[in-house]
Amino acid sequence: MNSINLTRPDDFHLHLRDATALASVVADSARQFARGMIMPNLESPITTVALAEAYRQRILDNLPLDTNFQPLMTLYLTDNTLVEEIKILAEHDHVYAVKYYPAGATTNSDNGVSDLEKTYPVLEAMSEQGIPLLMHGEVTDTGVDIFDREQVFIERILAPLMKRFENLKIVFEHITTSDAANFVMKGPENLAATITPQHLIYNRNAIFKSGIRPHNFCLPVLKREKHRQALLDVLDGGHHRFFLGTDSAPHSRNAKESACGCAGIYTAHNAIELYASVFEELGKLEQLEDFASHFGADFYGLERNSAQITLVKKDWTIPASLPFAESEIIPFMAGETCHWKLLTA
Ligand code: NCD
Ligand code: ZN
Repeated sequence: MNSINLTRPDDFHLHLRDATALASVVADSARQFARGMIMPNLESPITTVALAEAYRQRILDNLPLDTNFQPLMTLYLTDNTLVEEIKILAEHDHVYAVKYYPAGATTNSDNGVSDLEKTYPVLEAMSEQGIPLLMHGEVTDTGVDIFDREQVFIERILAPLMKRFENLKIVFEHITTSDAANFVMKGPENLAATITPQHLIYNRNAIFKSGIRPHNFCLPVLKREKHRQALLDVLDGGHHRFFLGTDSAPHSRNAKESACGCAGIYTAHNAIELYASVFEELGKLEQLEDFASHFGADFYGLERNSAQITLVKKDWTIPASLPFAESEIIPFMAGETCHWKLLTA
């Protein structure tokens, strides 16, 4: 197969940042995707619908002229989010979900939730209105090993939460383990998960390949090979509650190559091509479209996109570096060969 057509995909987990960083990265996503679920963890987090609307406008202002890319906005859940804000959200056209970060889990999460019980009235309102909760699925307890934080999240947070709010729509974001894959697979129809390219392509050895590799560090951290295989098995099985979310999380080269480097991998440069390579290796290229363009929209109750994209089988070299704000960024798999290329007009 030398080329494939598919419905234009959506990225259901995307960090676009703000200001000059936003201006540097947004065209990459817009070239490939019709829509992006925009994460709200800016330095000053997007905690209200009014802030989300203003941020959406800044994204639209930075889009290339020839694109129809639609930012789907999210709110950042805090201990102090008001039920009133959920009512406003429910009446609003451009905000689609609420994002849960445990306080201190990752980039700009200091304002995250310290005690989930404090948010129960808000979760109740979301459940009633059918508004999805997008969960960063890790505990932050420093006594828990970093490689176990997702499993412990399932036991301590997710399973009890699902018992308490049986109808709440939940997306378990960027899953990384067989535990998460099995939990979602066996779960009810109101539970889904996103999977990133890096967790499908690399295992944790990639962080330590002949030295420390800050550009392969993200959260949740890459896991053992057996977990990567479990995620590949999910794609192989074509399960409808697992869909594309890149978690593309740009940080400047300086911020990553540091004594305390930031978590986050920039995959937006060629995300759909990376996913195509994964499906090709599985011998299931025909299932790429469901994962990338159908299942996410279906879960969110959005219309499937009508436009198409074409990917051609062609080797090319991922750039060593890209311009980013006043600095540069190192894309995922910089300098390596990618086997698929998006056909652009
Ligand atoms: C994300 C970021 O930098 O905003 N980083 C990451 O490693 N994924 C935050 C997040 O989604 O955890
Ligand atoms: Zn993220």
